[in-house]
Amino acid sequence: MKKIYIYGAVLMCCCTTGGFAMASGADNGPAEITLQTTVDAQKTPRPAFFPHQTHQKLGCEKCHHGKGADGKKSAYVKGQKIEKCETCHNDKTGMPEKLANLKRVSHILCMECHLENDKELIKCGTCHTKK
Ligand code: HEC
Ligand code: HEC
Ligand code: HEC
Ligand code: HEC
Repeated sequence: MKKIYIYGAVLMCCCTTGGFAMASGADNGPAEITLQTTVDAQKTPRPAFFPHQTHQKLGCEKCHHGKGADGKKSAYVKGQKIEKCETCHNDKTGMPEKLANLKRVSHILCMECHLENDKELIKCGTCHTKK
């Protein structure tokens, strides 16, 4: 699967919506996601736009992981069950405070990589679009 994604966004769109995803039985999730917390009450809701499909060429393991029996992070395994970030990252699961809500884990994950790639990508409006 991975090699296929290297050929770029246009080809990738055809592949994931077409034959490959189905043929492998993989669940790649939605093409676009609006991330918004549903667990923690917020004073200021700030929905964030996330083009999931165009990010998938970076590798699922860059963002997805699990939780081991020891309570620590477990590395992504191909085909594993993928749960919403908030299933684990909320304030009732004993997470360290800086990882205990969607905003904090998102800002860590999304911003680190964006900063490495292009400073323009860390501007608020990249993800918090007006619409
Ligand atoms: C790379 C994408 C990205 C960028 C850039 C980004 N954010 Fe976010 N932000 C998110 C995501 C994802 C969430 C989680 C959605 C939620 O909490 O409802 C979030 C949540 C938030 C929240 C949630 C409300 C809260 O208080 O918990 C606030 C406020 C926020 N961002 C402010 C900012 C500001 C200010 C900037 C610019 C300095 C910024 N964000 C830049 C992705 C981004
Ligand atoms: C750049 C980060 C990133 C990459 C790379 C990525 N994903 Fe995701 N994925 C996310 C985020 C963020 C969500 C939304 C999680 C949420 O709603 O809490 C998500 C959601 C999903 C969901 C839906 C989960 C649910 O229950 O709503 C599936 C399935 C999924 N991804 C599969 C994949 C697969 C398979 C790959 C690799 C081909 C992949 N993702 C690559 C960040 C990523
Ligand atoms: C099945 C539970 C689970 C899910 C689902 C989950 N995480 Fe985590 N995550 C963990 C655990 C456990 C840790 C390690 C916590 C610690 O260090 O104490 C962690 C750590 C992190 C960290 C800290 C840096 C690092 O790499 O250790 C970030 C950022 C993060 N997760 C982001 C996310 C995002 C974004 C999502 C959704 C795409 C997500 N997580 C989904 C369990 C989960
Ligand atoms: C592992 C690296 C990586 C992670 C993690 C990552 N991104 Fe990105 N993102 C990129 C790169 C590289 C680009 C610019 C190239 C592109 O558009 O594919 C980008 C572009 C974007 C854009 C602009 C797309 C456009 O059409 O202009 C948005 C919005 C975005 N990312 C949201 C997010 C959000 C929200 C998260 C966290 C849930 C996230 N990204 C996590 C690498 C990453």
